[in-house]
Amino acid sequence: MRVVVSIGGSVLAPELDPERVAAYADAVERLAAEGCEIGVVVGGGGVAREYITTARELGGDEVELDELGIGTTRLNARLLIAALDETAAPAPARGYDEATTAFRRGEVPVMGGMSPGQTTDAVAVALAESVDADLLVFATSADGVYDVDPNRHDDATRFESLSPAELVDVVLPMSRDAGSSAPVDLLAAKLIDRAGIRSIVLDGTDPDAVVDAALRGTHTGTNVIPEGSTEPARWTEER
Ligand code: UTP
Repeated sequence: MRVVVSIGGSVLAPELDPERVAAYADAVERLAAEGCEIGVVVGGGGVAREYITTARELGGDEVELDELGIGTTRLNARLLIAALDETAAPAPARGYDEATTAFRRGEVPVMGGMSPGQTTDAVAVALAESVDADLLVFATSADGVYDVDPNRHDDATRFESLSPAELVDVVLPMSRDAGSSAPVDLLAAKLIDRAGIRSIVLDGTDPDAVVDAALRGTHTGTNVIPEGSTEPARWTEER
């Protein structure tokens, strides 16, 4: 089974903590030991936010801020690589073809950000499409996808599952509100819709949640299920 795991920066590195990074490396290694072929994408977290806020105060333009964010995601990717065993590719992939080549060699490619104007959510979808993944798991600080922003609406309701097109509709108004945080960014939602990639959005505070979701499909987050897609065969075998 081919799985791409997107580890949000707020999950992997809200601040730098070796134990947290080691716990995620352990989860990735367990999935690999269970026979999964894995690719990983890592976000920027608190360090990225500090750099971006500081550069904004210094008058940096948005592309400069994005480049700082990208640099930080790649540093975080290196942190995860440092914690992973020799199955990981030795450096963050600089492009999807490089990541795919590592994946085909049996290594675990780890990526950070790629280009300004997006987040690592979109990188994760592009990697999932490049390696023809059966599943994309977003380990985020949100515990799923809600109909409206749960930070602003007490009556927000979490979806157990929705289609990629519905995900785009849900994320679109959230991404217009300054300061509001969509569970995955709009470009990522559109790419999931275009490629028809089965995805899960879950609370990634506990890395075990990613292992359970990938191996058995059990989790308390939200499934994004493209029309006509079937469950990965592995889930039926495991249950
Ligand atoms: P993240 O993917 O961590 O963004 O990239 P985020 O979703 O805002 O952060 P969390 O997970 O909620 O903490 C950090 C920043 O790096 C830049 C963007 O500025 C982004 O906000 N970035 C990242 C890019 O410009 N392009 C990329 O491909 C990735």
